[in-house]
Formats: sequence, C-alpha cells, structure tokens
Amino acid sequence: MVKRKLCEPLEDHKGNLYFDGLSVEDLAKKYDTPLYVISEKRIRENYNRLYNAIVSKYKDVRIYYACKANTNLTVLKILKSEGAYLDAVSTGEVFMGLNSGFSPENILFTGTSVRNDELKFLIDTGITVNIDSQSELDRLLKISVPPTISVRVNPEIGAGHHEHCVTAGLQTKFGLWENEVLKAYTTAKKARVERFGIHMHIGSGILEIEPYIQAVEKLLSIAKRVHDELGIVFDFIDLGGGLGVPYQSNDTELNIPDFTSQVVSLFKSKVKEYHLGKPFLCIEPGRYLVCDASVLLTTVNTVKVTPYRKFICVDSGFNTLIRPAMYGSYHEILVANKLSRKKTETFDVVGPICETGDVLAKNRELPLVVEGDVLAILNAGAYGFSMSSQYNSRPRAAEVMIRQGKPVLVREREQFQDLLTSQRVAQQ
Ligand code: LLP
Repeated sequence: MVKRKLCEPLEDHKGNLYFDGLSVEDLAKKYDTPLYVISEKRIRENYNRLYNAIVSKYKDVRIYYACKANTNLTVLKILKSEGAYLDAVSTGEVFMGLNSGFSPENILFTGTSVRNDELKFLIDTGITVNIDSQSELDRLLKISVPPTISVRVNPEIGAGHHEHCVTAGLQTKFGLWENEVLKAYTTAKKARVERFGIHMHIGSGILEIEPYIQAVEKLLSIAKRVHDELGIVFDFIDLGGGLGVPYQSNDTELNIPDFTSQVVSLFKSKVKEYHLGKPFLCIEPGRYLVCDASVLLTTVNTVKVTPYRKFICVDSGFNTLIRPAMYGSYHEILVANKLSRKKTETFDVVGPICETGDVLAKNRELPLVVEGDVLAILNAGAYGFSMSSQYNSRPRAAEVMIRQGKPVLVREREQFQDLLTSQRVAQQ
C-alpha cells in the first residue's frame, strides 16, 4: 500500500490526524459532529499565493472572492482583511458581504434571473451590477442610471468539473452573446452610464489552462469590438472564477505560476494590441481560496454489512455535504485515529438521510473502522456548509475556525428550535 503524504494543514501525528496543528478527534470530542473545521491560516495562504502570482505580473489586480463557496462571516472578514473584493450572486450574499464589512464599492453583483426589487436594492446600496440579460439592463435603467455597468459575456467556451457547473458555451443560460453584448453597451451608453466593466465566468472546478485561455481571447476580442465601435473604455475586465483544486490524488493540480503567467501575459498583450487602456484585471475565485482550508468531521454510527455491500454509516449526509450526491464528486476520507492502518476493505460511506442516494463515498478503500471512530472528509471548505440544508429536519452542523492554533466556534450547531424559526401554524 502506498501511503499518501498529507499536505498542510493536514498532519499525521503517529497515526492520528491533526488539522492546522490540532487533533481532529479532540475537536470532535469538544464540539461534537458533524463539524466543519476551518483553517484561517490556510485561507490567508491561498489568497496570498494567488494574489502574489498575479500582482508580480500585472499590478492593477483585484481578487473578488466568490462567496457562494462559503459565506461564514469570519471567512468573509478574513478575506476582506487580506484585501479581497467580493463577488455576490444574490442580494443575500450582498447582505452578508456588507455585514462583514465590505464596502459597497468593493462588491460586484453577478446574478441571473434577477427581480426588480433586487435591482432596486442594488441601486440603492450602490453595488455595481454585472448584467446577465438585456431585460435586466432595461429594468435596471428604468429604476435609475447607475454610474457603472458591467456585462457578463458568454465567450461561447465553457468548462467545469460537471455539466451542472459549466457556465458558458452553447447550452448555458448565462451571459450575453456577442451581438447582444454590443446592444447592451449601446443601451447603457445612451442612458449616460459613465463607467464600464466586462465580465465572463466559464465554469467551476477547471484544472486545465486551455479553455480559460480560449475564453480570455474571445472575451478580449469582444471588448475590442465594444471599444472600437462604441468608444467605451473599460475600468475593469473580469475573467471570472473557476480555478480548480485537486480532490483526488490523481487529479492534476492547477499550476498557479503557469496559469497566472499564461493568462496574465495573454491579457497584457491583448490589452496593449487592442488599445484597451489600463483596466483592472479581476478574477473571482471561490473554491480556490477556501476549499482545502476546511475538513468536515463526522462520527461512525454503525458499520453495516449486507450480502452485497459494506456500509459505514456516519452522522453526516447530503444534508451536510451535498457534492458527492449532486455531482458524484470525490472527497477523500481519512479515519482520524487510523492513518497508519492498512486499507483492508471497500466500503460505501453513507449518511442518515432516508434516501439511497445519501452517499458520501462509494467503493472506498478504508481501514476497518468501529462505531465511534471519527472520519475527516477533506476539501470541504467550498460548497460544503453553503449548500447544506435541513432536509429530514436535521439541524445544520457547527463550524469551528482555527485561529492562531486555537479553536473558535464560529457557527453554533443548530438546535430543534431552529427548525421552527420561520414556520407559522395555520389556525384551525
Ligand atoms: N463567479 C461566478 C459568477 C460564479 O457563478 C462562480 C461559481 C464563481 C465566480 C466561483 O467559481 P469557483 O472559483 O468557486 O469555481 N456547487 C458547485 C460549484 C458551483 C459554482 C457556481 N458558480 C460545486 O460544489 O462544485
């Protein structure tokens, strides 16, 4: 058996798993499970690695954290303190951003299927909108003419780890096609909008550079047309998010120095060739910043053997982490106190939800576990808690942040009372 080398913030202390310096079994004991444990240090490292790789090549850079990945307030505050901007896809995310101290000028709204009252809220709050349809723009301008408008372009090339997560290309609902883009900027200019941005986001979980490069080329060629035909100068050009992270040992890691140097040199050369001035280069990573900064801890309730399969039944299900059930995503699982044990059997790791699809891992080789063992589900920081639910009337998990070597409870475990919060019983 080849033993996988653990990477920071994971550590093997004589067969016991530590996360950002703390024993995960101790954390599970102290806070109970299911428990999301987040490393502040790792979030800061991820942000700085990416920021430094870009700023060393192009100084006018802005990283918008796509907060749909994780809207924990402490996570938002950490990224804000590093200098991040915020990408919000709903007015609720805008609210969370404002609540954690982001100023409206530093928030970009990239919604789809947006309501009029939401547009009014964005105008009133002073948030720049990245429009996703001509109708949205027309409705926005009827409310008021904002100082800045950005248009989300469909560069006709998409990519992503699953078809649900491909957000550009021929079949997608997102963005405007080239001719519509010109029409939208014409409308905005006529309405006397003064400042402009242009945007794309081609998908999520991208581990190859090629689709990104092709999409950037297309986006910049459209920016050139808008500039040449309408005389528009862009304050910012936003290349979106989508930077993938490896979930499996055989996933190729996105090489950040390579990725940024290819993307930034293409950006610089085209901006120069097309006379696009000095726009800010913006990107919108969600997953890259927070994914490997968190693990989900869960406890084994039962080990159940049937004539056909062996199940490890734990206290987290797709109510806690939906990615495996929703996209067939792979999340590595470690048994907290058995890192040195041989993986002897193949199990399905399943949760407490009353659906056969409540599977966290299928056919997974693991050491023999017993009831009460703690499992750590890795790479749980992006689209983990943020996609969790109260399905089967299960209160949501707690979250703990490790800050300077100490655990801090940053989200209390929900209680039964929380299941009642917004219900009103109809009187007989
Ligand atoms: N910008 C926009 C406009 C987006 O829609 C998204 C993600 C991002 C940025 C950030 O993408 P990231 O860097 O995190 O890949 N629930 C799925 C991912 C859906 C992402 C949707 N949009 C998952 O668990 O894989």
